[in-house]
Amino acid sequence: MKKIVINGGRPLKGEVVVSGAKNSVVALIPAIILSEDVVTLDGVPDISDVASLIDIMEVMGATVKRDGDSLEIDPSGVQSMPMPYGKINSLRASYYFYGSLLGRFGEATVGLPGGCDLGPRPIDLHLKAFEAMGARMTYEGNSMHLTTDGQGVHGAVIYMDTVSVGATINTMLAAVKAKGKTVIENAAREPEIIDVATLLNNMGAHVRGAGTDVITIEGVERLHGTRHQVIPDRIEAGTYIAMAAAVGEGVKITNVLYEHLEGFIAKLEEMGVRMTVSEDSVFVEKQVSLKAINIKTAPYPGFATDLQQPITPLLLKAEGRGLIMDTIYEKRVNHVPELARMGAGITTIGHQISYEGPSDLHGAQVKATDLRAGAALVTAGLMAQGQTEITNVEFILRGYSNIIDKLRNLGASIDLIED
Ligand code: UD1
Repeated sequence: MKKIVINGGRPLKGEVVVSGAKNSVVALIPAIILSEDVVTLDGVPDISDVASLIDIMEVMGATVKRDGDSLEIDPSGVQSMPMPYGKINSLRASYYFYGSLLGRFGEATVGLPGGCDLGPRPIDLHLKAFEAMGARMTYEGNSMHLTTDGQGVHGAVIYMDTVSVGATINTMLAAVKAKGKTVIENAAREPEIIDVATLLNNMGAHVRGAGTDVITIEGVERLHGTRHQVIPDRIEAGTYIAMAAAVGEGVKITNVLYEHLEGFIAKLEEMGVRMTVSEDSVFVEKQVSLKAINIKTAPYPGFATDLQQPITPLLLKAEGRGLIMDTIYEKRVNHVPELARMGAGITTIGHQISYEGPSDLHGAQVKATDLRAGAALVTAGLMAQGQTEITNVEFILRGYSNIIDKLRNLGASIDLIED
């Protein structure tokens, strides 16, 4: 067990470079199974979800070489084998093995995905798409077996009842080598979907419309190797921007794609956050006064659910009352009692979060209940007077590349301790 210890109240100053996007790379790695030759990814974040995916790929027969932030994967030796237990259950994104194995072998046996507990997280839309493409499924213990009886998947028109990032990407993975044409209607439009489509197209696939709500995929016989730069992590960027606004005295966040963060930055501007935005960086000044605002999450380009928790400590610095409503995961409120333990004026009313600021936070022993709640607690710890101890930090290390070093370089007093 590891814990993070923060001595709060120190200002952050300097520059922090954003790593490659977690939610892209966790799909890009399984996507490589569809290639017949080596694929190299550059800008791969140093997070435990990536380490888990590498382990799974190696068990399946891939050869993986890591050199700094580059990952070279030779998938030619991958076998169709059941992947029921262990690492599969450690992350949500293991559901992408359904799509990629189905696309390559016409069958897949994969354990049910794990990941952060944000309330019910069904995968019915993924399975509905695979069925429409000719797969039959059976549950075997904690695993799902998909088969096409040796026929391989075929194209289909699929309407997504809910806008889903995972189901959209998974359908693309299954469809790129399918017989015929697949159309995904009401597709999610997140930047990570465009990133996966770009990799697939550079491998020889015919994916059109990624980034819009209708994606068309013409199946091809074979996919080949390529080299791909992972897009910057917009959620990590947003987290550091919020931290810089909360406790910074001049912080430049670089490797940022402004167009991926427009909604988030607009809300910070509404709060009165002083910053200078350029094409690939955001400079956040020391703040003078901030105004309370309401946040309502929505699918991209709306306010990202993944940034709702990381922005909460900053909201606590603002003057006045506000509400946070998460329309994607209404149970994503586990950071609230932990922040209250640190002295925050925050509570839940039904599925909404209500806060009143400004709150003076003090150090406390708190628990990271999920990845983004953990990021919120790190920010709160930096803001608080005294020492904060965060347990369950494995969640944080799943998604924030080198967070301890990055914050230390900005002047934070933060340590990762093996308990
Ligand atoms: C992805 C992200 C996660 C982010 C979320 C929403 C990854 C690995 N994770 O998760 O960080 O918080 O998008 O932006 O990229 N739903 C169904 N049935 C399904 C699938 C989803 O009802 O089959 C519902 C979900 O419960 C949720 C909504 O659809 O309410 C959106 O979920 P989805 O976009 O699929 O989230 P993930 O792809 O799992």
